[in-house]
Amino acid sequence: MRYHPVKAFNYDFLTPFYDTILNLIGFGQGQREKIVRLLNLKPGEKFLDVGCGTGSLLKVARKLHPDNEMVGIDIDKKILEIAKKKLDSIGITLINTGAENLPFPDNSFDVVVSTLIFHHLPTEIKLKALSEIKRVLKPDGRFLLVDFGKDYRRQKQRRTILKVKSLIIYVKQGSNLVKFQKGI
Ligand SMILES: C[S@@+](CC[C@H](N)C(=O)[O-])C[C@H]1O[C@@H](n2cnc3c(N)ncnc32)[C@H](O)[C@@H]1O
Repeated sequence: MRYHPVKAFNYDFLTPFYDTILNLIGFGQGQREKIVRLLNLKPGEKFLDVGCGTGSLLKVARKLHPDNEMVGIDIDKKILEIAKKKLDSIGITLINTGAENLPFPDNSFDVVVSTLIFHHLPTEIKLKALSEIKRVLKPDGRFLLVDFGKDYRRQKQRRTILKVKSLIIYVKQGSNLVKFQKGI
């Protein structure tokens, strides 16, 4: 399958404005803090952000959890350059790769998060990415997928750029990802 990854805002020239625009549409520091708190990282747990973009979530995670090992991956070299400037001095590893091809051994992470990337992925790549995430998660590891989607409280489809509606945590049990908790 020929696959052309989508840039954060579709066009390269918009990438430098990514953080500013996200703040304006309400997906700034506050939302990221909520997400990191929901992940409930414990001391010693290893954390992976899939499609980390400019690294804003990792920066918040580092502030709240100074000692955990953290890694971010993204397929776009240019956006990783922005993340690198933000995260270099706070000990976070950044790797240029696709979610569908994670360069980590099986069972390497306790917690995986992915925010606002899955709607960019074609179905085949989504499935590969989910299978990779499941592979690199440790048994009982947690995966939080954050994206635009169905409002679980209203039971109807709603797309909005102002609020992310669906937050679901999956826990790896045996060879499955099992739904654990949802909502923010
Ligand atoms: C809308 S941005 C979200 C960035 C960040 N997670 C956030 O919440 O701000 C989508 C990101 O997904 C990345 N991306 C797109 N396809 C990808 C893939 N196959 N694997 C990894 N990252 C991908 C893009 O480069 C971009 O940084």
